Amino acid sequence: MAQDYIVKDIALAAYGRKELDIAETEMPGLMALREEYGKSKPLSGSRIVGSLHMTIQTAVLIETLVALGADVRWASCNIFSTQDHAAAAIAEGGTPVFAIKGQSLEEHWDYLDRSFQFPEGANLILDDGGDATLYVLLGARAEAGEDLGVATSEEEEVIHAQIKKRMEETPGWFTKTRDAIKGVSEETTTGVHRLYDLVKKGQLPFPAINVNDSVTKSKFDNKYGCKESLVDGIRRATDTMMAGKVAVVMGYGDVGKGSAASLRGAGARVKVTEVDPICALQAAMDGFEVVLLEDEVDKADIFITTTGNKDVIRIEHMRAMKDMAIVGNIGHFDNEIQVASLKNHKWTNIKEQVDMIEMPSGNRIILLSEGRLLNLGNATGHPSFVMSASFTNQVLAQIELWTKGEQYKNEVYILPKHLDEKVARLHLGRIGVKLTKLDKDQADYIGVAAEGPFKPEHYRY
Ligand code: NAI
Repeated sequence: MAQDYIVKDIALAAYGRKELDIAETEMPGLMALREEYGKSKPLSGSRIVGSLHMTIQTAVLIETLVALGADVRWASCNIFSTQDHAAAAIAEGGTPVFAIKGQSLEEHWDYLDRSFQFPEGANLILDDGGDATLYVLLGARAEAGEDLGVATSEEEEVIHAQIKKRMEETPGWFTKTRDAIKGVSEETTTGVHRLYDLVKKGQLPFPAINVNDSVTKSKFDNKYGCKESLVDGIRRATDTMMAGKVAVVMGYGDVGKGSAASLRGAGARVKVTEVDPICALQAAMDGFEVVLLEDEVDKADIFITTTGNKDVIRIEHMRAMKDMAIVGNIGHFDNEIQVASLKNHKWTNIKEQVDMIEMPSGNRIILLSEGRLLNLGNATGHPSFVMSASFTNQVLAQIELWTKGEQYKNEVYILPKHLDEKVARLHLGRIGVKLTKLDKDQADYIGVAAEGPFKPEHYRY
């Protein structure tokens, strides 16, 4: 059979495999699912398209899905986040993967398209940020005769061109694919926002499981994950001394909390901006000064966006920054920083994913990963252990959609609390946690079952 993968260098597979072996020892949730379901193979017959950062941790996820019976094809959801040795190991293992660190936008959307091309068609999506879902739904709308309108960004232009190409090559493909998809599980806050928006507009054609809002995902990966990987990204990119520097973190949601803690842990003096009074109060009571970006823009050394919003750091901000200020984003998309409006400035590439850009004043800024999520672009994303919790939720969500999908409406669901608690439980042993057991009397007194769930739905952790 012709080669059915696109990776940087298949010879990296042996190195990737060694790192995979190490990651497995740090991903007890995924390994426990292999143990529990490896024989019964509940995902048999499923054909899963994955659109999620092609890292070592994701490779362990992919091999878990395969061990549970799934047929899998994979693309990365970001042009800079692939770890080429991880992709090579997966390709060599026989799972088609289309991902290269530093791929162009055209390649990115072409690779996503290729990850859908199962001979018998895909029937499940595992998404991160919603691009795989967007591709199918937008294409189906175009096939129904809807004008996609004028592209408002370079990326939108590329998406429209890719859709046109697929429509010409395989007429009716998008509609057929959409109708065959049994459901999507979504990894991140930004993708989840898109799904709820589709429901509001009556445009979600299949059930969705919001993995992000499992407690064992957003309160761990978004928070403790960023706590480790933000500073890792800044260091690998710049080698800057963090201690004593002034850093501004925009947004104090889960990612902002982890990011501010990360910088503080490295000795930076951290300030926070927020629009939500609750998160602003949390930041203040966690000991961070809550400020306006405008007041800090010419004083701080490091600026990090974590909002999932757009146009947070604007061109006028960057023009007012100190010489050699570091600017980066850890939210899902690059539009948190107005990178497009820097295009006509003088760029000097320092190394991969690190650019120095000269402002009209002569001051320069260091921009990380062209404004794309820097913990994956400049470093290797979150560590395995925390990704194990996220991905254990992903696998449970895929099993649920595949085996019970017809019991769900075309809405967005969160996994039940007993599964959330199960995911946490699977990670306790690895770090030596001893859990106290409730006796019957105590359980009755606080109104829960002795074996859980331990909290009501409205509890916020
Ligand atoms: P969140 O909703 O918990 O937090 C975002 C915060 O930003 C909110 O508190 C909001 O009030 C605030 N905000 C919005 N607009 C703002 C503005 N103009 N100025 C200041 N603050 C503003 O979302 P979460 O879970 O923290 O995710 C944030 C982003 O990070 C999303 O795009 C998500 O997909 C992404 N993400 C990235 C990860 C990574 O590894 N790089 C991991 C997990 C999530």
